[in-house]
Amino acid sequence: MDFNNLPRHIAIIMDGNGRWAKRRGLPRTSGHSAGAENFRTIATYCKDIGIQYLTVYAFSTENWRRPPEEVSTIMGLLDKYLHEAIERMERDRVKMKFFGDTSVLSPKLRALIERTAEISSQYEGCQVNICVNYGGRDEIIRAAKRLAETGVAFSEENFAGEMYSAGIPDPDMIIRPGGEMRISNFLLWQAAYSELYFTDTLWPDFSKDELNKAIFSFQHRDRRFGGI
Ligand code: IPE
Ligand code: IPE
Ligand code: MG
Repeated sequence: MDFNNLPRHIAIIMDGNGRWAKRRGLPRTSGHSAGAENFRTIATYCKDIGIQYLTVYAFSTENWRRPPEEVSTIMGLLDKYLHEAIERMERDRVKMKFFGDTSVLSPKLRALIERTAEISSQYEGCQVNICVNYGGRDEIIRAAKRLAETGVAFSEENFAGEMYSAGIPDPDMIIRPGGEMRISNFLLWQAAYSELYFTDTLWPDFSKDELNKAIFSFQHRDRRFGGI
């Protein structure tokens, strides 16, 4: 893998936590804890090697269909993760942003999300976007509504400017661990020319080495963007 030719923006669908736990005879919730821990490892690694943007899918607009206990465990883990992230901010120095409709989350979690985004805004090294209650279709509808309200022309540029990702380059590569080969409503607009990478490795086992392998694969793709 060539460290001088890295993708600028990597996006990851952090999938497979439940199966990881099941294989170990553990409750699904342990899988989510292990997944959150791995997110920390991978985000730090991305910052260390010089990835400029990392976007991760943590909770989709469809994940509310899960049993309420599982949903509240995931929200609890997010709360815990954010408290720890604030404590470690000085050391980690990553800018954190949140994509998704946070208006339906608990006021406590919302406040924590806003606080994390605000105090991390001073850091420039790597920007980590965490997608919570995020859906690609929801994002597109929201952008359309905002454009209609402002009366601005419906151009690709204006549309992109109303996405959560406004001002950020599209992901060069979307990685999905966990064995499924689908997008599951992730970054539908931004994925237009992203290189897709799928692996059977479950998210809690997706190591730095696995990321290197994915980047290596990316570096050997021929990106034509419709040209020749
Ligand atoms: C991803 O892991 C985490 C979320 C969707 C919140 P899963 O919980 O979907 O794990 P599997 O796919 O059931 O193994
Ligand atoms: C996608 O995983 C969402 C996240 C990883 C947050 P899912 O487990 O929800 O996706 P499906 O249901 O297998 O498509
Ligand atoms: Mg899943």
